[in-house]
Amino acid sequence: MPVSPFIAYRNGRLHHEEVDLEQLAATVGTPFYCYSKAAIQSAIRSCRAAFDPLGISIHYAVKANANLSVLRLMAAAGLGADIVSGGELARALQAGIRPEGIVFSGVGKQAREMGQALAAAIGQFNIESIPELELLEGVAREQGCRAAVALRVNPEVNANTHRNITTGVRGSKFGIPLDQLDQALAAVLRSPHLQLRGLAAHIGSQILDERPYRALCRLLARETLRLRELGVEIGHIDLGGGFGVDYGDGRTLAFETVAAIVEQELLPLSLRVAVEPGRSLVAGAGVMVSRVIYRKAAQPPFLILDAGMNDLMRPALYQAVHPLLPLAQHEATWVMANLVGPVCESTDLFQRDASVPASLGAGDLVAFQQAGAYAAVMSGTYNGRDLIPEVMVEGDTSRVIRRRLSQVDLMELEL
Ligand SMILES: Cc1ncc(COP(=O)(O)O)c(C=O)c1O
Repeated sequence: MPVSPFIAYRNGRLHHEEVDLEQLAATVGTPFYCYSKAAIQSAIRSCRAAFDPLGISIHYAVKANANLSVLRLMAAAGLGADIVSGGELARALQAGIRPEGIVFSGVGKQAREMGQALAAAIGQFNIESIPELELLEGVAREQGCRAAVALRVNPEVNANTHRNITTGVRGSKFGIPLDQLDQALAAVLRSPHLQLRGLAAHIGSQILDERPYRALCRLLARETLRLRELGVEIGHIDLGGGFGVDYGDGRTLAFETVAAIVEQELLPLSLRVAVEPGRSLVAGAGVMVSRVIYRKAAQPPFLILDAGMNDLMRPALYQAVHPLLPLAQHEATWVMANLVGPVCESTDLFQRDASVPASLGAGDLVAFQQAGAYAAVMSGTYNGRDLIPEVMVEGDTSRVIRRRLSQVDLMELEL
């Protein structure tokens, strides 16, 4: 069953918007990523419909999908960006995202990246440690400017998601421990080169449970009130992203749910609130199309695909499952198979005991759904493999938005 409404069988052939994916495979070669422009625009509209009326600003987390064509859609919709490196800053600016809408997150910002961001006059640095704050202070002093700072706290709120995408618990590298917050605040307040904007947090990704957001908002509200009593004006809260999407079981976390929690818990304190959604704006817009190379007999059989963990890393990293659709519609019996790639690693496994049409075999094409986020952006060239292309469809047209990078292209860089 297609998860996205922008994917459908027409005359038994899988289409992304109006584009026949098998025909597209014949022109770009497999494997490849394909995104629906309308699906991204629709996700942006839903997000804005939930947050705009409450004045909550939206900063797209570039890490989810950093392709310039995707970023341009965010820029065109007036969204800001959440970045974690100088490279993402360059991409966001190139795509036309306004600098004042850019928030710089991440635990390991380097002086050169801070300098680059200050020169671009970005809106805010989300600072994650006292040494990082000291470095930023020094860079801002050197450049003769003032950096707007939000302190990202580690709220010790468990997001009930996969341990590898949990970021706000004790022992996590992210955020300033609550018992160091006042020391960090004092450092911001005494520097003429730092300007306090407020507090920030991000508790994890693919969160389907609304309760951690409520717990987070309550904690941030409590801290805001405590600090205001001490005479520290906290005017701004950045809640991060993490809103979960449907990977085939029908579960999501609606933007409206988060918006309602913010409205109840934070807006009564006259706070300006920002969110940083990544996955929820792009995951559903993408598929990765791959061809079966072999069907290897076993119990259950292995379907060996031409896509591997270097192309789509989420199953190996997080045991994620991307529900599969054959490009040719099959009515017949479905059986179990293990879906694997050609990479020489046991973790190159897309799904064990996947349900596939009984006749699916060598030469057949399949699409992994919900592959628009943390997918192409994480791809690499391990095992001498190509960096695979990305395509954007719009109605019945398609455009390659990142060309294939072959080993010949890569070897040129090594000579
Ligand atoms: C600081 C920060 N903000 C936002 C996000 C986006 O999260 P998601 O893509 O789950 O919405 C992340 C992702 O890890 C992050 O680290």
